Amino acid sequence: MGLDRMTSAPNLPGMKRPLRSFFPLLMTVGIGLLLAPGCKKNDSTASDEIVIGEFASLTGATASFGQSAHKGVRMAVDETNAAGGVLGKKVRLVTEDDQSKPGEAATVVRRMISRDKPVAIIGEVASSRSLEAAPIAQENKIPMVSPASTNPKVTETGNYIFRVCFIDPFQGAVLSKFMLQKGWTKAAILMDVKQDYAVGLTEFFKEHFLKNGGTIVSEQSYSSGDKDFKAQLTSIRGEKPDAVLVAGYYNEAGLIAGQARELDMNVPLLGGDGWDSPSLVEVAGDAMNGHYFSNHFSSEDKSPAVQNFLARFRDKYKEVPDAMAALGFDATMLVFDAIRRAGTTDGPALRDALAASRDFPGVTGTITLDENRNATKPAVMLQVQDGKFRYVETVVP
Ligand code: PHE
Repeated sequence: MGLDRMTSAPNLPGMKRPLRSFFPLLMTVGIGLLLAPGCKKNDSTASDEIVIGEFASLTGATASFGQSAHKGVRMAVDETNAAGGVLGKKVRLVTEDDQSKPGEAATVVRRMISRDKPVAIIGEVASSRSLEAAPIAQENKIPMVSPASTNPKVTETGNYIFRVCFIDPFQGAVLSKFMLQKGWTKAAILMDVKQDYAVGLTEFFKEHFLKNGGTIVSEQSYSSGDKDFKAQLTSIRGEKPDAVLVAGYYNEAGLIAGQARELDMNVPLLGGDGWDSPSLVEVAGDAMNGHYFSNHFSSEDKSPAVQNFLARFRDKYKEVPDAMAALGFDATMLVFDAIRRAGTTDGPALRDALAASRDFPGVTGTITLDENRNATKPAVMLQVQDGKFRYVETVVP
């Protein structure tokens, strides 16, 4: 593709470009050739460090996702280095900020691959951004492990793409079952059409809910970044649902809860893991009280693995980890475990070792990857109460 451009562009009629202007193009082609399968070298066996790449939304609309995941990844790297590293080498973490922006994940992952030659890539949280980067990792035969993207399409991209979390056909069923158990058989849906995650979660929720006796009385949508949801909420209110599924991320969910309160809607709102952020309650205040969401992890979990992680995390960052922090930690530790089992950081061998991950003791539960490179793990239901996410129940697959 790059070569076509280089040979045909100078012959275009009427084009008089100084030779100088082709230098960036030549550079691109050069880097492209370096990255071409077979030419690339991402095996750091010969060097004295192991480079792990990470891309995350450290800034922008869903900054708390990236910042949390990064804290977990950083902690895994620091603890591992303190314990002697992996295969006798120190791990060097390279992190790129995709600014929560569409298009940016692909750009930063391309750049990171050509510049830093990571042996594996951790990212992203949001499914749409994982979906942007996955084909690039796949093409370069660099294993990519998403800590938290739950849309099924992410790992369907190819055999180098993994995740350590459950997927949305399960999460959708968890939310549906929860509603039905509560006797809430008339549901409305408010979904972010701009996010693969929200669209998928809605589809899987509906499938399960309709099959099990529920009815959907209203389906409304919005786009990431919207601020006013009153029209959608008013029309939902008119249909008198027992509960509303708000499929999207925390910013909008917080605003939606606030505006539902202003409209005197006394109906429980339910969300998925995309609600998990300290900002959820910062945006909504006590309008968030009583609403529920499903998640990967509860900091109220009394198991020694969780409590021990919590203590170390608090010690390091002076805060309580959320699901992304725990999943970021697990994703990174699983990569280290696979490198040890492979005995090398060579892409294909590391891929095989990752694919063979069985019964890995993660903070978020035991991780066994299936033939589609997904993990099967329980989910938790949480209820928001006075700024806290209280544990309600665990739902097993
Ligand atoms: N599951 C969400 C997605 O796929 C991301 C997410 C995971 C958000 C965990 C919060 C907590 O887009």
